[in-house]
Amino acid sequence: MTLGPSTIPTNAPTNAPADLVSWVAQIAELTKPDSVYWCDGSIEERDRFYEEMVSAGTFIRLNPAKRPGSYLARSAASDVARVESRTYICSQDPADAGPTNNWADPAEMKVTLQGLFDGAMRGRTMYVIPFSMGPLGGEISKLGIEITDSPYVVVNMRIMTRMGNQTMEAFAAGVEWVPAVHSVGYPLVDADGTTRPDLEWPCSDEKYITHFPETREIWSYGSGYGGNALLGKKCYALRIATVLAREEGWMAEHMLILRITGPDGRVYHLTAAFPSACGKTNLAMLRPTIPGWKVETVGDDIAWMRPGPDGRLYAINPEAGFFGVAPGTSEATNPTCLHALDHDVIYTNVALTDDGDVWWEGLTDTPPDHLIDWQGNDWTPASGTPAAHPNSRFTVHASQAESIAPDWEDPAGVPIDVILFGGRRARNVPLISESYDWEHGVFVGATVSSEQTAAAEGSVGELRRDPFAMVPFCGYNMADYWTHWLEMGKQLGDKAPRIFQVNWFRKAPDGHWLWPGFGENSRAIEWALRRVNGEIGATDAISGRIPAPGDLNVEGLDISEEDLAALFAYDTGSWGREAALTEEYFNQFGDKTPEELNTQLWYLRERIAKAAQA
Ligand code: GTP
Ligand code: SPV
Ligand code: MN
Repeated sequence: MTLGPSTIPTNAPTNAPADLVSWVAQIAELTKPDSVYWCDGSIEERDRFYEEMVSAGTFIRLNPAKRPGSYLARSAASDVARVESRTYICSQDPADAGPTNNWADPAEMKVTLQGLFDGAMRGRTMYVIPFSMGPLGGEISKLGIEITDSPYVVVNMRIMTRMGNQTMEAFAAGVEWVPAVHSVGYPLVDADGTTRPDLEWPCSDEKYITHFPETREIWSYGSGYGGNALLGKKCYALRIATVLAREEGWMAEHMLILRITGPDGRVYHLTAAFPSACGKTNLAMLRPTIPGWKVETVGDDIAWMRPGPDGRLYAINPEAGFFGVAPGTSEATNPTCLHALDHDVIYTNVALTDDGDVWWEGLTDTPPDHLIDWQGNDWTPASGTPAAHPNSRFTVHASQAESIAPDWEDPAGVPIDVILFGGRRARNVPLISESYDWEHGVFVGATVSSEQTAAAEGSVGELRRDPFAMVPFCGYNMADYWTHWLEMGKQLGDKAPRIFQVNWFRKAPDGHWLWPGFGENSRAIEWALRRVNGEIGATDAISGRIPAPGDLNVEGLDISEEDLAALFAYDTGSWGREAALTEEYFNQFGDKTPEELNTQLWYLRERIAKAAQA
């Protein structure tokens, strides 16, 4: 079989601009698929893909009486999360990737990729996905084209982005768009024509998730999972977007966005940066337990923010869906999210019940007697292994959340009053504390540490530095990113959002959570908003300003005095050791570390010393 460029028609729609069509032709020439298909984004197309994937065994149709329109996919056991060790920033100068990213020379990486992608799609269809991050035509929305050989990617991108024919108008000649090429790296025909059968979840042992910030390109090889493969998400809306944002004077952040309305009718908007699987989706759909407060969701993972005409910071959600962590989601922890999952959901790596429904750890207190686990094996509560993978996920359109803000797609965005930074910290970090000023807030963001979760490969539970929850997602040098934050603060001046640090994950020495979390997190937020309003004072502490005794609303909350005190307790020795580690951490970045942050570290040490004397 010969497959040359002339034998592969691009099948481009008539309204596709020439530069786009010629790029698609080039990629087809390289990857040598059987055919090229442009996704139109229609429901008919989606349903056709679903049918095909059910026939191929990639999808299991869930019981339509229980989960209408919903499917289960099980990935290969080697392809279950983002692979940070195989994720590269290919800038000309290694210093522009910085010590927290893997760097590769762009020219050398291109040679590697040419080799990998040459014939990578033999025997497959090459899908072309035109998409928009942000509402179509929005002033800060951005366009991209993902080429992929994975129908799973197509149907997920259809939920997560604005995708298909509707976007084509926007691709008028000359408009900027980011090319993103993806292959699962499992061709069905090799160079000498030998064929092999497809797998239910094809992927490759060799994985490369690569970004070229200067030429704004994304190439991803070998994985079909989440952020490795849905290239509009972390690759574009964060790693490439951070680079664009720095040049153009805006911010691309790993943040949820929510609106909260108080009992007096006052409306506030808040963003929060927590590392992966640390509670963004949960907070985005918060059900406040304190009377009179109401939360509406704008986004659960990514925020693009820029100063508006009035000088305040406005945020949009560039995504159209939620790719959320399933385990731990329940009627008790996040009912809003659970209800959004009733229909039209793609589940990946959760467990299957005997009646064709889904289950994951935490969904119910008592697990079913029998399940098929995420690897397709029989499972009982005696199995001793998780039935759902800890990083199993759901893909669902944002509009399915009953909490979705009616104007969540407003291209102008929402004005941000408060920014939260958080992580999983068993010790040291209090439930909530307010930064002394913007520079202190940037210091707090820059020193975020968190216990590693299953969202990326690695040792779960290990404490790691994750400044701004952006370590896996910043497309340039992290220290330059801190400088960008400081500059944005100067530009925003007294219109800048107020910055707070939160920690829902503090534990007592015996290991129990000190704070009930979830809906009760509204109490911490209420305190922050009362501070913003200037209604109450606060107590100066090492980490920042903390609630004065009696100011945190714990009415109706079943929490002991000891636990409440422990949530804000500090150990100066432990803080001193953390400050020493911060100095080491900052030193990694050499003289790129902004002077303001070294000054903040000095202030922190002063506060620790003063507290130690007291
Ligand atoms: P990514 O999608 O990976 O970026 O993560 P995310 O930040 O959106 O994570 P998500 O909200 O899905 O958090 C998932 C995990 O955090 C689940 O195991 C939840 O049970 C747990 N979690 C969320 N909020 C709380 C909380 O307030 N307290 C406690 N103890 N756990 C929480
Ligand atoms: C994360 O890991 O932060 C996610 C999931 O939101 S993924 O899209 O796979 O990166
Ligand atoms: Mn995320």
